[in-house]
Amino acid sequence: MKKLRVGLIGAGGFGRLHLQGYSKNENCELIAVASRTEEHAKEAAEKFKIPKFYWGEDWKLMLKENDLDIVSICSPNYLHAPMTLEAIENEINILCEKPICIAQEELKEVEAKLKVKNLIYFSSFQKRYNPIFSNVKKIIDNAILGQLVSIRYYFSHLGPYTSWRPLSKQKWFFDSRMAGGGVALDLAVHCIDILRYLLGEYKRVNGYSSNTICKNIEEEDNCIILVRFENSCLGTITVSWCNEPMETIELFGTEGTLKIDIHAKQPVFHISKKLKKNNMVKELLNYQPAFVNTQNLLIDHFVECVLKGKQEHPNFEDGKRAVECVLEAYSMEKA
Ligand SMILES: NC(=O)c1ccc[n+]([C@@H]2O[C@H](COP(=O)([O-])OP(=O)(O)OC[C@H]3O[C@@H](n4cnc5c(N)ncnc54)[C@H](OP(=O)(O)O)[C@@H]3O)[C@@H](O)[C@H]2O)c1
Repeated sequence: MKKLRVGLIGAGGFGRLHLQGYSKNENCELIAVASRTEEHAKEAAEKFKIPKFYWGEDWKLMLKENDLDIVSICSPNYLHAPMTLEAIENEINILCEKPICIAQEELKEVEAKLKVKNLIYFSSFQKRYNPIFSNVKKIIDNAILGQLVSIRYYFSHLGPYTSWRPLSKQKWFFDSRMAGGGVALDLAVHCIDILRYLLGEYKRVNGYSSNTICKNIEEEDNCIILVRFENSCLGTITVSWCNEPMETIELFGTEGTLKIDIHAKQPVFHISKKLKKNNMVKELLNYQPAFVNTQNLLIDHFVECVLKGKQEHPNFEDGKRAVECVLEAYSMEKA
């Protein structure tokens, strides 16, 4: 079978994880890579044995002259929309890093251009591929906790350049013009995506509060977002770049409570006593987190969808709703 021709823009920290994913997928052939600097483009091309590399503004040329089937967009946030638009113009299927856009106008433009093309578009929400979330979803869908009343998602690490090492010397994460926002646009987009996956669509954003405590930046490095879901459940998302790496979800229902520490060896740190005999809960209590490379799973799924010509989640709408949640929150602070 003919292999899919893959290109990537943004050979940085996360871009290289995408390259690793494609290089392990037998249906793909890495054709070209682009970066801001020649140094990083060449380095990635050598490491992953990619025949062609581009730098500067030549990512446009890369999209034009290689007959690509797939492009991964892993550049700084402000470039996601223009690069996506160019990829659509060249009829290339897209896997775009989060946040997929940084403004409402960009979302509208990308949506309108995508609508008239028959392309597969994936938003890079790799957390969805952590098997613990499908266990939790089963418990929610089967109403084991009764009706969910509220849910609390906490996600933190010590921020880019401390807990996470971006490679570009631009240090763009701390520049508002290039990042488009602070920790909310970086981390809360993942949280709202998981909450939408677990609970369904959110109805509106009800509140926002933020501060800047530990980084020398204009944007927020801590914030809380309040959301109300269409099923009436209330959600709190708290994200921080000032605290040790942690990720917990607490679910409060009319029949009981479940609290999970996503990366712990034993993820369940609280479950209502009366629910302990339930088989689905037992399954979760026995859950042994195995190392799964969620980014590779996402790439394999995306590639499979491109081969089948079938759009699945996480799609453009998922990326869009996550960005809209944060933009709505930001607009509250400015109001
Ligand atoms: N899904 C996740 O959990 C997750 C985790 C981390 C990051 N991300 C996302 O991934 C994206 C990249 O983040 P990162 O941490 O990988 O940052 P990074 O290491 O700084 O990488 C950014 C890359 O973009 C390149 N770039 C900048 N301007 C460009 C241009 N005009 N043309 C072509 N390439 C250009 C940089 O090139 P040079 O290196 O040559 O300067 C660098 O290779 C961000 O959108 C971030 O939000 C997602």
